[in-house]
Amino acid sequence: MHKQVNILGIETSCDETAAAVVADGNVIKSSVVASQVGLHQKYGGVVPEIASRAHIENILPVINEAMTKAGVRKNDIDAVAVANQPGLTIALMVGVTAAKTLAMVWDKPIIGVNHVHAHLQSAMIAQEDKLELPAIALVVSGGHTSLYQCKNALELTLLGSTINDAAGEAFDKVATILGLPYPGGPSIEKIAKKGNAKAVNFPRTMLGPDSLDFSFSGLKTAVLYHCCGQDMRGENRCKEMDEQELADIAASFQAAVIDVLIKKTKRAAQKTGAKTILLGGGVACNTALRDGLADMAAKIGVNLLIAPKQYCTDNGVMVASLAYYKFKAGMFGDLTMEAKAGSQ
Ligand code: KG4
Ligand code: ZN
Repeated sequence: MHKQVNILGIETSCDETAAAVVADGNVIKSSVVASQVGLHQKYGGVVPEIASRAHIENILPVINEAMTKAGVRKNDIDAVAVANQPGLTIALMVGVTAAKTLAMVWDKPIIGVNHVHAHLQSAMIAQEDKLELPAIALVVSGGHTSLYQCKNALELTLLGSTINDAAGEAFDKVATILGLPYPGGPSIEKIAKKGNAKAVNFPRTMLGPDSLDFSFSGLKTAVLYHCCGQDMRGENRCKEMDEQELADIAASFQAAVIDVLIKKTKRAAQKTGAKTILLGGGVACNTALRDGLADMAAKIGVNLLIAPKQYCTDNGVMVASLAYYKFKAGMFGDLTMEAKAGSQ
């Protein structure tokens, strides 16, 4: 009988402490996520020091729960995998240290995984058979907005990425401007449902006719100026807005982000002759983005593979799944803690 390869995946790069056990890259035996949203809410964004301390508290209970739910013991685990870059260094350190310690004590190999590549992998889990090449992938999260060309889980070429704010970061910052709760993505999506997306014509920054890079900081500033004016000193504070006005701004902002994401993805698909588009990362929870990309993909006759919503935001499943392919390729170790944009 085929012996399954069980991998324990650990994720602590930002504000979720997560662990999962996945067999053969696509059989999800458990997935446990301890979210820190409540801790960061009052700051309107992730505070690294708070994130790190919460990871320290949560990491062992989360790993224990993932092992128990999967019904496995240490001897059933073939490798310990961890997202080791990119991310908040003092947050990553908690997962990496836990993974290294377990690997040493259990005498198992350790596998380091790139967090952004893992987001992309979440769109492939259990649907690799639908991956027609050539393929491109859009990863949209709180820290990254990247387009890749991909041949398989491990052969990825970066085609473009954000030159300033990531798409999720723009959602989070605009939510703060609008006085909506963190994380901004779900808050904006919710209120945008009641708004008119054509109410305000916010800028769509395309960075030239061939560019596959993104820029969302101008859009964020446009929302700020729209709400508060250009001079925010003294008397000129942001104006009061009623519920409908807020909903219209949220809907118009969301439409501008999604428009750019779809146009750039279409551009990348056409440039590379892609037959498949993959979508992953926290912002991929957004239904308007999922639907908009599906429409575009159908129009240009390209297959679309989207990560299930529960595996769009940070989780251990994507880490364990990607690590399986590294396991098969004998790519152990690989724990460089590189946090620079070039590694995305
Ligand atoms: O992938 P993720 O959990 O963490 C990073 O790797 O950054 O993504 C979190 C981001 C946050 O910026 C959050 O606002 C955004 O994903 N997000 C959304 C939605 N749900 C989460 N953005 C837009 N619409 C959503 N429904
Ligand atoms: Zn992430």
